[in-house]
Amino acid sequence: MDLLPYGGYSDVVLVVDVLRATTTAVTYLERGADALLLTDTPEAALALRGEGVVLAGERGGLPIPGFDLGNSPVEAARRDFGGQTVVMNTTNGTAAAHIAAGTGKHVLLAALTNAHAAARRARALAREEIAIVCSGTEERVGLDDVYAAGVLAEYLLALGGFSIEDGTRVALTIRRNAGNPFDTLSSSGHGGHLIGLGLEEDVHYAAQISTSPVVPMLDREGSTPEVLR
Ligand code: MLT
Repeated sequence: MDLLPYGGYSDVVLVVDVLRATTTAVTYLERGADALLLTDTPEAALALRGEGVVLAGERGGLPIPGFDLGNSPVEAARRDFGGQTVVMNTTNGTAAAHIAAGTGKHVLLAALTNAHAAARRARALAREEIAIVCSGTEERVGLDDVYAAGVLAEYLLALGGFSIEDGTRVALTIRRNAGNPFDTLSSSGHGGHLIGLGLEEDVHYAAQISTSPVVPMLDREGSTPEVLR
C-alpha cells in the first residue's frame, strides 16, 4: 500500500478529494443518482446537458457558470437524484479520477464519509497493491487529503494483509497526530479557502468519518469513464 502522487500501477486505486469532489460524489449516489460521469473539461460537461442530466462542478470552489449545481455535498444532500446522471467537473478531483483511471484496474472514490466502506471494498478487490491517490489542490499536496489517506490506511491495516510504503507512513503519522477531523480539514489550505467563501458547512459535512456505505467505482465498460455505485 502506498500514497501515490499519480504514478505507478496498482490493482486498486483509491482516489481522495475530501474537499469536496469525492465527498460530494458519494452524496450524489447516496441521494439516488443512477451514475456519475466525470468529464475533463466544463465544455465537455455542458455538451452532455439533456433530459435526466444534472451538471455539477466548480472552479476555485464556486459553481461553474451554466451548471445546475456547484460542488457542495450539503447542497447535494438536500436533493433527490433518482433517475438522473450527475455530470461532474471540478478543479482537481475529477482530473485526479481520470488520471487514476490509467493507474489502476479498480478505481474507487474515497472520502472520510465513506472511508470504512471504501477500505473494505478495496481489500476485497485487491490482489497485490492498493494505491491512495490524493488529489490535492492545484497540483499541490492537500493536508485534508493526506489526513484522509491516513484514515483509509488505518482501516486497511486493521483489515490485514498489507505492508506499507513511506507515503502511507506519512499519512498515518499525520492521522495519528492530528486533532479532530473538522479542525484538521479547516486548517488545510483548501479548507480555509472554503470557509472564507462561507462554505464552512461543507467542511463540517466532509469531516464526518464513515457515515456512508456508498463506494463509487469507475465503470470500465463505458466509452466515457463513468462512476457507478
Ligand atoms: C476539487 O476538485 O479540487 C475540489 O472539489 C474543489 C472544491 O470543490 O472546492
